[in-house]
Amino acid sequence: MAGDDLPALALRLLERQPPPGPMIAPELLVPGTLPDLVDALGRPETPAHPALLASLVLKYAHAYVHPERLGEDVSLADLTELAGRFVRRRGGSALLAGQHALRRFLLHHGFALQMLLDLPKTVHLLTALLAANPDVSGRFLGLDCGAGTGILLLGTYLLARRHGVAAPTLMGVEVQPQVAARADALLSSLGVGRVRQADATRPETYAALPEGPVACLANETLPSAGRRLYKEPFPAISAALFAALGPRLSRTVFLPEAVWASDRPGREWLRLAPENAFAGDAGGHAKPLRLAFMRDVELAGQRVPVERVGEGLAWLVAEPWREALCRRW
Ligand SMILES: C[S@@+](CC[C@H](N)C(=O)[O-])C[C@H]1O[C@@H](n2cnc3c(N)ncnc32)[C@H](O)[C@@H]1O
Repeated sequence: MAGDDLPALALRLLERQPPPGPMIAPELLVPGTLPDLVDALGRPETPAHPALLASLVLKYAHAYVHPERLGEDVSLADLTELAGRFVRRRGGSALLAGQHALRRFLLHHGFALQMLLDLPKTVHLLTALLAANPDVSGRFLGLDCGAGTGILLLGTYLLARRHGVAAPTLMGVEVQPQVAARADALLSSLGVGRVRQADATRPETYAALPEGPVACLANETLPSAGRRLYKEPFPAISAALFAALGPRLSRTVFLPEAVWASDRPGREWLRLAPENAFAGDAGGHAKPLRLAFMRDVELAGQRVPVERVGEGLAWLVAEPWREALCRRW
């Protein structure tokens, strides 16, 4: 131990080795660059099967961290190395030893990237989004509130393309400046849309949007199972959205389609859905919505407890990696 300084030793206590082997079975990884996969999935004749969506998500995560390699068909070894840097979001991993700039970057973006790399849940969300039937009769305007890495805006782009819209107008809103800038740069270079740094809980955030109805709206700023709704801004964002855009949301497809919350013992339930501006429908006597506990979401017409989103897709992640990577709410 002689010569080892205390900060370095303390940091090592926080570190974990990444799990062994590739993070996804090699036969599941679809070859091609990220733009190739976006192009393929934008065509309605390409089945949006889970392995293809998982490959898209992994390559998107890699391009988010290494935008200079956007045009490369990134190898499974490199994707696994990227995933290995997330085995512990705050501590980092031994793979980051000595890489101070990259460690700082990953710490800053870690929350959004950790959500993205939960492949089963992210793929479940994308699958639900692509199952939607949006109104494409006018200009296709899509919004993603709390855009994070912007993956759901990419999903909205694919939805529009698969429904014959060549150039949808897509806007993400993200409050963290560095996360917004990163997502904006990547989605702009893919020709998908823009991400603005703004607070989605403020109605004025929506003042500069192009006119017309909103075709698709993603708002995934939800707390994890059993936590109170106020822990995340979903109710406040929904209130601002409906105050600002009201009638422009009458034919919108939403992700999630609805949210279920209850009191602690599960005796009183609320369904937060477009018809009640995602504010619940318990009438004037109910306790404040923000005190309710997060329970279920509706995705592609199915009501699913939030902790079970992605459950049937665990096979997308190699077994030793599951516990480390599957950390979205
Ligand atoms: C659950 S994550 C969404 C992840 C994103 N859908 C993805 O898959 O990458 C929530 C995101 O909302 C952002 N956020 C939280 N409060 C916000 C607000 N008031 N306005 C805009 N974004 C907000 C957070 O910074 C975070 O990136």
